[in-house]
Amino acid sequence: MFRVINKIEKSYDENVTLFFEDKISTCEYLSEESRKLINKVIEKEKFTGKFKETIKFTFLENGYLVTLTYVGAGKKEEFTEDRLRELLFSTLSKMTGNILLSSEEPDLCNTRILTEIFYNINYSFDVYKEKKNAKINLDIFKEQKTEGMGEDEILAISTNITRALIDEPANIINPESLAETAEALGREFGFATEILEEDKIKELGMEAFLAVGRASINKPKLIVMRYFGDKTQRDKKYGLIGKGLTFDSGGLCIKPADGMLGMKEDMGGAATVIGTMCSLAKLGVKKNVIAIVAACENSISSNAYRPGDILTTMSGKTVEVINTDAEGRLTLADAITYAIRIEKVSEILDVATLTGAMMVALGFAATGVYSNSDEKYLALESAGKYWGEKYWRMPLFDEYGELMKSDVADLKNSGGRWGGANSAAKFLEEFTEGLPWMHLDIAGTAFSDKDKKWIKKGATGVAVKTIYTYIKNMI
Ligand code: BES
Ligand code: MN
Ligand code: ZN
Repeated sequence: MFRVINKIEKSYDENVTLFFEDKISTCEYLSEESRKLINKVIEKEKFTGKFKETIKFTFLENGYLVTLTYVGAGKKEEFTEDRLRELLFSTLSKMTGNILLSSEEPDLCNTRILTEIFYNINYSFDVYKEKKNAKINLDIFKEQKTEGMGEDEILAISTNITRALIDEPANIINPESLAETAEALGREFGFATEILEEDKIKELGMEAFLAVGRASINKPKLIVMRYFGDKTQRDKKYGLIGKGLTFDSGGLCIKPADGMLGMKEDMGGAATVIGTMCSLAKLGVKKNVIAIVAACENSISSNAYRPGDILTTMSGKTVEVINTDAEGRLTLADAITYAIRIEKVSEILDVATLTGAMMVALGFAATGVYSNSDEKYLALESAGKYWGEKYWRMPLFDEYGELMKSDVADLKNSGGRWGGANSAAKFLEEFTEGLPWMHLDIAGTAFSDKDKKWIKKGATGVAVKTIYTYIKNMI
C-alpha cells in the first residue's frame, strides 16, 4: 500500500503534483528558492493546468536532484472522479520507482481512488516471465494522515485476486484447482467452502451441468461458498452465481482458433464471485451470502454432449441442445436451481462471460445487466458509478423468450444470433422461480486486450467492488 506522509524524509525518483486549471500554486514542501524558479518557468511556458497537461522540472534542492512533474487536472468545475482515475492512471503508469505525489486540492487526493489506481498499476500477470514488470512505490504528501487497511484496500486486493484467477491459463486453473483456490481463499478471508464431486452432482440431478463438463478429463466440481454475516436473519440469504467454464472450446460445435484463444477467461464470473466473497467476509459485511460456481470445462471427446441431445435440468425443465457452444446457460441454470432449492437463497445475482452478442451490443465499455427489479438495477448502477464502472440495462422482452422455445423440449439452448445476449438472459430467467434476480453479462468487460482509460490490459476484475457495495447497501 502507499504511505500518507506529512514530512519529507527521503529523495524520490519522481515527484508529482496535481493542480486544477488556473489554480496553480507551488509545491508546499519545496524551498523558497525552488518555488520561485518554478513559478518563473511556469509563467514563461504558459502552463495553466489543462487536463493532462504536464511540465517537468529537474533541479537541486538540499543537495538532492529533484525531478518534479506538474500535472494539470483541468477545470475544477469539470472535475469528476472518473477524470481523476484517468489522470492518475496515465500519469503514474508511465513512472517507476519511488514516487511522491501531492496536491493541495482534497478532490485530487482522494485516497479511495488513489488506492484503486495504485493497486491497479501494480497488478501485472508476470508469474511466468523471468523479467518481472516494474512496480511503483508511492508516498502521498498530505496534511492529514489516514488509517491503514480499510475497505478500499481490501477491495483492491480482492479485485486483483479475481484478475489473477482469470489471467491464469486453463492448464493451471481447472475445476479442481479453482475449487482448491476457493477453499484456500475461504480460509484466509473468512468464508466456508464445500466442494461437491461428480457423484453428488449426479445425485442432485444436475444433468445440464454434467453434460457440459462430460467430455473433459478434468471432472466438474460444484463449489459452494457460504458467508453468514447476519446471524439474526439466517433465512435471508443472497445467492451469487458465477459462470465457471475453466475453458470453453465450444464443444462439438467447436470454436474457430481466434474465438477460442481467450476462452481461459470463461470462468470470469466464477472469479468475480470468489473475489466478492473475499471482500464481503474480510470486511465483515452484515449480510448472508451464498456463492455457487458450477465449474467445468467444455471439451471434446467421443462422450461429449451433442447438438440435438435433450437434457433434463435439475429444475425438471428439459432443454434441447442446439449448439454445444451455448454451454454457460446450461451450467448456470442448474447452479441457479441448486441455489434456490438446496441453499434456499431469497435473491439471485449471476455473473457470466455469457455471450459474444453482448460484446457486439455494448463493446468493452459497459457490462450489460438484466433484472426483474427496477430498484435493484438502479442500486447496482449507482454502486458501479462509485467505483468507476459502467452498467447498462438490457431488455427482457417476451419476444426474446419466444426464441428459446423448442419443438421437442421445454426450452432450447440457443435462440440464434440476433439479440443473442437477450435470449440467453431469458433462458436464465426461466430458472429463477420468480425471485428477485439480476444477470450481469461481463463477456465484453472481464478482459481487455488493450489498456483501458484507467485499467491495465488483461483481466479487469470488473464488478467485484460494485457487487460488494451493492450487497453491503442492500436492505
Ligand atoms: N463463452 C462464450 C461467450 C464469450 C465470447 C465470452 C467471447 C467472452 C468472449 C459463450 O459460451 C459462447 O460461446 N456463446 C456463444 C453462444 C451462441 C453459440 C448461441 C456466442 O456468443 O457466440
Ligand atoms: Mn461457449
Ligand atoms: Zn462459454
